[in-house]
Amino acid sequence: MSDRKARLSIDGSDEVIELNVRSGTIGPDVIDVTPLTSKGYFTLDPGFTSTASCESKITYIDGGRGVLLHRGYPIEQLAEKSDYLEVSYLLLNGELPNAKQKADFDATVYRHTMVNEWVKEFYNGFRYDAHPMAMLCGVVGALSSFYHDSLDIHDPEHRQITTMRLISKMPTLAAMAYKHSIGQPVMYPRNDLDYASNFLYMMWGNPCEEYEVNPVIARAMDKIFILHADHEQNASTSTVRLAGSTGANPFACIAAGVGALWGPSHGGANEAVIHMLEEIGDVSNVYSAVRRAKDPKDSFRLMGFGHRVYKNFDPRAKVMKETCDEVLNALGVSDPMLDIAKKLEEIALQDDYFIEKKLYPNVDFYSGIILRAIGIPLNMFTVIFALGRTAGWLAHWHEMLGDHSRIGRPRQLYTGSDVRDFVDLNKR
Ligand code: CMC
Repeated sequence: MSDRKARLSIDGSDEVIELNVRSGTIGPDVIDVTPLTSKGYFTLDPGFTSTASCESKITYIDGGRGVLLHRGYPIEQLAEKSDYLEVSYLLLNGELPNAKQKADFDATVYRHTMVNEWVKEFYNGFRYDAHPMAMLCGVVGALSSFYHDSLDIHDPEHRQITTMRLISKMPTLAAMAYKHSIGQPVMYPRNDLDYASNFLYMMWGNPCEEYEVNPVIARAMDKIFILHADHEQNASTSTVRLAGSTGANPFACIAAGVGALWGPSHGGANEAVIHMLEEIGDVSNVYSAVRRAKDPKDSFRLMGFGHRVYKNFDPRAKVMKETCDEVLNALGVSDPMLDIAKKLEEIALQDDYFIEKKLYPNVDFYSGIILRAIGIPLNMFTVIFALGRTAGWLAHWHEMLGDHSRIGRPRQLYTGSDVRDFVDLNKR
């Protein structure tokens, strides 16, 4: 720990409060404000724009330079050279696996893809038109009612078993949600297929005929999972950590993460991008959409643009854009929506408002287009994000428990009524 100090003096008090300044491996220094509470103060930071909620060794983002590293490895290299299960291993264990570790990890994931038959009954309880994210929130949490044998979060073996179960079963649960929504029989997983191919098989296969997974689509799907695997202390990951800090079981924590991800400012943006492009409707309407997005009186925003941390470009969006082009070429898909998206990007990137506010296309801008091109239904977009993010959520959950963290309990600046006496109903 460095011995540099920040000194805080407060009007009306002679005391100068000394705070330690801590340095990470890379990235900005952090002022440790924990002593403030014993001096009678809290810090106020709505939206946590200036607050590091924890120490972490998993993922690093340099928003100014558009850098994203998992355990030190750049996302571009992982997307090109690795696969989702290897990235999951890396996030969870801190190092890339050797050949044996990789084979063992993959084999364990493939062996646990099936879910208990009774899980199907949960899906049968949902209306045919239930949103798959609603089903996923419910069913992931409900898994805790099936695995009483491994819910002791203080037992490392239990934590490990649950982690593998969740990574193995998320594609099965996601595909089951889709099958329920279209009224088709659920497809049992095929453990001879790789992770992404098995997911696509369960989505699009049916018991009446052979289904062969297109390898171009499977590779694109795997890349999409990699690009969503982790993103340090984003809203859903912070939710998982906060839920986990109470001692809640991992299924409940991941269900909380799924819920937080659903919002259109976070993972729900990939679905919102397509709704927005549909609303724009034609390349000729792009200018008026950009005008609306700039109007402070209009709540319309360009979905898939802007990011809390990236103020230059989102490196995931760059890889996603390249993958999008590759897939569209390979499949020979031409999508008028892509023309609208390209025009929108072109206009927004030249517009002073977007330049000044440093608003660039984020990962969701292109993932929406690519998912559409490979035939994924719109209401499954955020489910796919959740599936990919599961490895990251679990890695953070493990790290949080390993730190022996105290319960996450933010404070507040209270601005409500001062103490007052109750007034009887007949006197109000
Ligand atoms: N379109 C138009 N204006 C925008 C946009 C946008 N997409 N994003 C931000 N702004 C403006 C905003 O109005 C504000 O203007 P002002 O300073 O005049 O009040 C300024 O830029 C700063 O915005 P903010 O909302 O304070 O920034 P934030 O860091 O709190 O929010 C964000 C980040 C991603 C929620 C936001 O940019 C947004 O709503 N984008 C659209 C939704 C989206 O694409 N979300 C996916 C994020 S990436 C995937 C993920 O991590 O889940």
